[in-house]
Amino acid sequence: MQQQITDRFVSVFSKNATGLYFAPGRVNLIGEHTDYNDGFVFPCALEFGTYVATSVRGDNVIRVCAGNFGDEFNEWTLNADVTTDEACLWSNYLRGVCAILLAQGHTLKGLDVYIEGNVPRGAGLSSSASLSVAFAKALSDINDLGLTVSDLARIAQSAENDFAGCSCGIMDQLASAGGKDGHALLLDCRDLSFDLVTIPDHLDILIIDSRVERNLVGSEYNDRRADCERAARIMGVNSLRDATLEALKQNRAQLDDLAYRRARHVLTENVRTLSCAEALKAGDMPRVYQTMHDSHLSMRDDFEVTVPEIDFIVETVDAQLDNDGGVRMTGGGFGGCVVALVPNDKAHAIEAEVKAKYAEKFAKEPNVYHCKAKDGARAILT
Ligand code: GLA
Repeated sequence: MQQQITDRFVSVFSKNATGLYFAPGRVNLIGEHTDYNDGFVFPCALEFGTYVATSVRGDNVIRVCAGNFGDEFNEWTLNADVTTDEACLWSNYLRGVCAILLAQGHTLKGLDVYIEGNVPRGAGLSSSASLSVAFAKALSDINDLGLTVSDLARIAQSAENDFAGCSCGIMDQLASAGGKDGHALLLDCRDLSFDLVTIPDHLDILIIDSRVERNLVGSEYNDRRADCERAARIMGVNSLRDATLEALKQNRAQLDDLAYRRARHVLTENVRTLSCAEALKAGDMPRVYQTMHDSHLSMRDDFEVTVPEIDFIVETVDAQLDNDGGVRMTGGGFGGCVVALVPNDKAHAIEAEVKAKYAEKFAKEPNVYHCKAKDGARAILT
């Protein structure tokens, strides 16, 4: 893929790329819809991601060509107000990163940029976070900004929130920026501190894409967020992180049913996330199984973000686990992927079983990826 990108750069710009940067997509093991409630998440970075090939120009123009969008071009000037381009939505993630860095007072060099990624799009594996984090990493290195993992994540998140119209939390960007080979990140979204937890070698991360496409921008995601904020407001706390299950019960009469159930998901999910990370550290697989199992049910029944295809995949994998792994929906929901931690020697049998049963019921095959946790954003060629 790297060679392909630098070759494409030459054919598009008729010169060599002098920089190549990469940031991965992510999968979340547990801790869903907790990030924007200042809670805990437990994602890891993947092998798939977005590559950004660059060459510095002599002016203050950013000119980008996007391989995933039929080599479409887009450009903007760095001294004017950088605004969104409604006719070229992918460019807004990058325009956002530039605008935020300029607003922070940084000086940026003009660049020719070729971008291409291999994160399955629309599957909920954070192709967009990998795009904005990879670009932020490129700008940081090229302009000697020395941005840290949390700086990169915050800038990429603001770009999505303010320029791409998605009010996502910070999990995807943080996992993409700070991932570590062989580890998952137990991240506290309140202060962005994280602990690295080793994923034992005998476990595969199986990602099963239902191929029910989800689109977070303009979706029910923002409604869920509003339900959580309403619950926090009624309970008199700044965010659900400051609420307890006891307080939730005491406030039950004041809360509408939706706010109550959304908050119950978030509060119990925080407990499960900490418990799952601890269990993985201790090699306690029955507890890993239980926390992931309960997480799925809570997303299905309280947070209501699963769809029948996803529930079916989870049940099919679940039937083949024997307290030796775990399975649940991952990501924002309404389609997308299931994540499973499974023993290596069972992974292919589980894949075959899920493919056959899913095809029988839904007349299409899911895409299955066998993954390991990988490193976060990095320079490949400078
Ligand atoms: C999407 C968002 C994340 C997070 C998850 C749900 O992936 O981008 O910030 O909220 O949904 O856990």
